[in-house]
Amino acid sequence: MISWKKQRHIAFLSFLIFLFSFNGVLAQGDAKNGQTLFKSKCSSCHALDKQVVGPALGGVVARLKKDQNLDEAWLLKWIKNNEALRKSGDKYANQVYEKFNKTQMTVFADLSDQNIKDILEYTSNPPKEEPKADAAGGAGAGMDATAISAQKEQDKKTTAMLLITLGAITGLLTWVLLKLRQLVKLQADPLLTPEDAKKTKSFGEYYKKYNKVAKALLGLLALLALYGLWNALMGIGVYKGYRPEQPIYFSHKIHAGENKIDCQLCHSSAKYGKVSEIPSVNVCMNCHRNISEYKGKYIEPGKTREFYTGQIKEIYKASGWSEEKQAYVNPPKPIQWTRIHNMPDFVYFNHAQHVVAGEQAIISSWNKKNKDNQIDVVCKACHGKIDTMNVVEMANDFTMGWCIECHRSTEVDMTNGYNKEYFKNLHTKLKKQYPASNGKVTVESIGGLECGKCHY
Ligand code: HEC
Ligand code: HEC
Ligand code: HEC
Ligand code: HEC
Ligand code: HEC
Ligand code: HEC
Repeated sequence: MISWKKQRHIAFLSFLIFLFSFNGVLAQGDAKNGQTLFKSKCSSCHALDKQVVGPALGGVVARLKKDQNLDEAWLLKWIKNNEALRKSGDKYANQVYEKFNKTQMTVFADLSDQNIKDILEYTSNPPKEEPKADAAGGAGAGMDATAISAQKEQDKKTTAMLLITLGAITGLLTWVLLKLRQLVKLQADPLLTPEDAKKTKSFGEYYKKYNKVAKALLGLLALLALYGLWNALMGIGVYKGYRPEQPIYFSHKIHAGENKIDCQLCHSSAKYGKVSEIPSVNVCMNCHRNISEYKGKYIEPGKTREFYTGQIKEIYKASGWSEEKQAYVNPPKPIQWTRIHNMPDFVYFNHAQHVVAGEQAIISSWNKKNKDNQIDVVCKACHGKIDTMNVVEMANDFTMGWCIECHRSTEVDMTNGYNKEYFKNLHTKLKKQYPASNGKVTVESIGGLECGKCHY
């Protein structure tokens, strides 16, 4: 039986969770605001990762704390009015001024403390860089920044709506609980006049008669609400199945499936770094200068050859290519692909780590469940069978639980050069430490569950 006290606790708890989650949404805005301010006020002289006119500011809070034992208060003073701080005889302020050949930093008397804190938050936890447009060809690669921000804006709105609805439900529930409680109290009150009693009699008696059932029902309701809340919160940021429409109907099934074009021919940066970029229109043109019509056997139901050919012409529009002149005659217009996968800013994910170092490990665990010797199997372990998709969709949750699950279960490949050298002694040590594991070394054993590995 759930007592009144407990029911109140439950309502209160849901409320706390509600407030807490709301707080999370607000906290995220800080670094964003900081980024905007940084771009408008500081980026003419500072970058995060390199010295420009002034020093690199990435992680400056931690650096000054460590090297100079200066805290945020000092930074507030410096950023607001570095000149005044220097004149006050502050040691480090003068030292850094000398070091930069007495280059004067702008005075920002108009920045509020909160604004400066936002900027510092940005320098400590910068949101991940969006892939840049391809500078070489001028023809833009990758995803369009406005599309990303529109999507983010949309996400934020959805989250806010959800939270408001949940808040309303929690409020209503609390109200009902309190109201019922009042009724019970009233019923038990010896000073109740007969008239009052009449008013409440029917309900009160009814309630009394089914007291236990009623309480149980209410308790259940509260639990359900809590469960719903929890689920909804866990669902935020899960976009499995997300498949936006793209500006050109580009089919992975036709390219990677039918024509067996290697994933990494187009997504060539997956091997070298963090981001697996979307190919620029130049890459498309390497082939499509010569492939101007669709003559393939495969046609998706509902589509026609003419439709596909029409889509190829869109590449020409984007690249400024003229078929008659066989030359680029118009200025290129970047193709504005809509980004599908997008980890939150506080997550660090690196393609090379998985596609190169982890390749064999991932392939062999994928092959335990799937028979597949087609191209680039490693990609599929995370992205699903892209080579069968006409329109790319998110094939997995891409949540923390999803990353962790694979790190728990996948044995690392101890034969690859890097791991062999790096973990020379680990293997034997683990064997001794966990004899039951039979010397199995999973990603977890090499630290793949440590928070700092995936979070900035
Ligand atoms: C006109 C160029 C200029 C602008 C704009 C500018 N700075 Fe500076 N900043 C400098 C220079 C130069 C230094 C090195 C010290 C000196 O010469 O005074 C510096 C130093 C700093 C330092 C000390 C770093 C260290 O490693 O000791 C911080 C922090 C800083 N700037 C923050 C900011 C912030 C935040 C903004 C934007 C609100 C900003 N700066 C805008 C030129 C600039
Ligand atoms: C001929 C070039 C080409 C080949 C080959 C290719 N892709 Fe793509 N890929 C693209 C383009 C263009 C997009 C953006 C449009 C879209 O989403 O369909 C894209 C998008 C993607 C996305 C979604 C990116 C996002 O926005 O989050 C994934 C994942 C992906 N490709 C994986 C693969 C895999 C895995 C293979 C191999 C089986 C592959 N690609 C082969 C060109 C290619
Ligand atoms: C390695 C060569 C190659 C590259 C690179 C390439 N394609 Fe293709 N593309 C093909 C082939 C082959 C076909 C099928 C032609 C046929 O069967 O007649 C095709 C067909 C198409 C079609 C019609 C079918 C469909 O998918 O809708 C479109 C549109 C298209 N490509 C767009 C692109 C875009 C956009 C890019 C750059 C992101 C690109 N292609 C890069 C080889 C390539
Ligand atoms: C271990 C899982 C994993 C493997 C293996 C993997 N990816 Fe990804 N991929 C991801 C995640 C996670 C993201 C989202 C990254 C982000 O938003 O920062 C992503 C994003 C992408 C994107 C969108 C651009 C970007 O980097 O955000 C493309 C394109 C892509 N992957 C292609 C590939 C290709 C091609 C391969 C194989 C060579 C591959 N991926 C292998 C997990 C994986
Ligand atoms: C399909 C399985 C798989 C998935 C899913 C996966 N990983 Fe991994 N991950 C691996 C393997 C295998 C390694 C080990 C690579 C090696 O041998 O160095 C690894 C290594 C790492 C490392 C380095 C760990 C270390 O201790 O050096 C990081 C960081 C990482 N993954 C982040 C992520 C993130 C973030 C996600 C989710 C977005 C993710 N991984 C999803 C298989 C996976
Ligand atoms: C293998 C990579 C990986 C490791 C290790 C990892 N995380 Fe995460 N974490 C993620 C990813 C990916 C997300 C984003 C999930 C999403 O967008 O749904 C995330 C999200 C979060 C969130 C936001 C809440 C949420 O569920 O979206 C918190 C808080 C968090 N992690 C804390 C931690 C802590 C604490 C640890 C250490 C015990 C840790 N993480 C270890 C990958 C990891």
